[in-house]
Amino acid sequence: MSESIAITVVGSGYVGLVAAACFAEIGHRVLCVDNDEAKVNALNQGVVPIHEEFLPELLGRHRASGHIQFTTDLSHATQASQAIFIAVGTPQSQTGNADLSYVDAVASEIARSIQSYKVIVEKSTVPVYTNDWVRRTIERNGVSRSLFDVTSNPEFLREGTAVKDFLHPDRIVLGADSDAAARLLAAIYEPLTSGSYYDRSDAVPGGRSATDLPPLLETSTKAAELIKHASNAFLAMKISFINVVANLCEAVDADVDQVARGMGLDKRIGKRFLSAGIGYGGSCFPKDVAAFRYVAQQLGIDFGLLAEVEKINELQKERFFQKVRSALWTLRAKRLGVLGLAFKGGTDDIRESPALELIRMLLDAGSSVCAHDPAAIERAKLEMPPRENLQYTDDPYAAADNADALLILTDWAEFSRLDLKRLRYTLRYPIIIDGRNLFDPRVMQDLGFTYLSVGRPSQHTSVESASTKRWP
Ligand code: UDX
Repeated sequence: MSESIAITVVGSGYVGLVAAACFAEIGHRVLCVDNDEAKVNALNQGVVPIHEEFLPELLGRHRASGHIQFTTDLSHATQASQAIFIAVGTPQSQTGNADLSYVDAVASEIARSIQSYKVIVEKSTVPVYTNDWVRRTIERNGVSRSLFDVTSNPEFLREGTAVKDFLHPDRIVLGADSDAAARLLAAIYEPLTSGSYYDRSDAVPGGRSATDLPPLLETSTKAAELIKHASNAFLAMKISFINVVANLCEAVDADVDQVARGMGLDKRIGKRFLSAGIGYGGSCFPKDVAAFRYVAQQLGIDFGLLAEVEKINELQKERFFQKVRSALWTLRAKRLGVLGLAFKGGTDDIRESPALELIRMLLDAGSSVCAHDPAAIERAKLEMPPRENLQYTDDPYAAADNADALLILTDWAEFSRLDLKRLRYTLRYPIIIDGRNLFDPRVMQDLGFTYLSVGRPSQHTSVESASTKRWP
């Protein structure tokens, strides 16, 4: 029987909320602390503020059993817990480095309540020296060094599959510089590393099982901090790399899907994160690449490669914009249907979404946009309120209705299941410009579309006439 450990998670954003729900799911008693009283009240009443598979079920189950509670009282939570996970935001500051003021404030507040041994765990993505700063902050507040350890346990969850990623991880990284802290962290993850969780009939299904356990990697705290930044920067680099290869493919009329498949079958390269498109977005990659570059610069290490990764990512959006312009000759007074607002499919998150940036560029160029997204419309409306030239719709076919072209900007699985014949007759001109390569170009041509995608040969119909036949 695994030990039930009293845990505090500070911060109820994406990482904090998912971590809190999953710690409760593997048998621990969790207090999730946030200083936003309205949010805490809503969470205690069962509101789930983010769109994430399995999260409503887990929160519902463990709120009911009392294994997870939400509070604003960090002092009480600290005293009641053995481990305190810091999962507050580390936004990008103007210089590119991570703004650690929230982490600093939380560390000071925790320090004021420490009366017995506590393990403080960095869960937010932080630069490599942060554990030293947290330790110094706590010591400065008069806490004896024997009463706490600062550790790093980075999270590798992806939005949309965050719960599965947590409970069925590729690896669990525990960075600790003391045995006591390493033992407590290992005990927290024991239900996953021993496989007892996967034997439960009510376990969230995923890739791991009792015969395929997640490896536990014990490292120094600094190595754990570096693993997180280096992993995200490497994945971003993979995306920028394939995007440049896609541009090369366009220049010679080759298909980037074939090239990516050929590269990805080499086990040293791997086939994932080789999908060409309009560039990466989201709350992690842009911020983490910039922060990692800044860390290297501060330490006197030239990591110009990361500046190049960022530059390619910016140019990829610009390139797609030019593709739309050249397909339509001019963008002034064009009516464009847009599918996708979220930074990727499966989430309602619009932070650093390439889709929103492109919509802004298209509006500035004089087009009007009617946009659809399965989950992100409400969030998008807060950032870009509807107006005469920007409408939102719950119906993907309404976005295409009478449009001069349809643009696909997010890789929602739903979009690849759309009725293409219906779309063909809904559009004013049968032009689809796909920034996520969702469709087979030959199928699109057979259906009579002019179909432009990223890094694949363009398909043109002989006549891009206004449809004479209405659907159905
Ligand atoms: C990422 C990391 O994957 C995760 O490990 C980390 O903890 C947080 O950051 P997330 O931001 O949820 O997760 O999204 P991810 O699925 O990694 O996609 C990031 C961006 O890259 C998206 O905009 C996506 O559309 C884009 N992408 C991804 C590509 O353009 N091509 C690809 O092949 C993969």
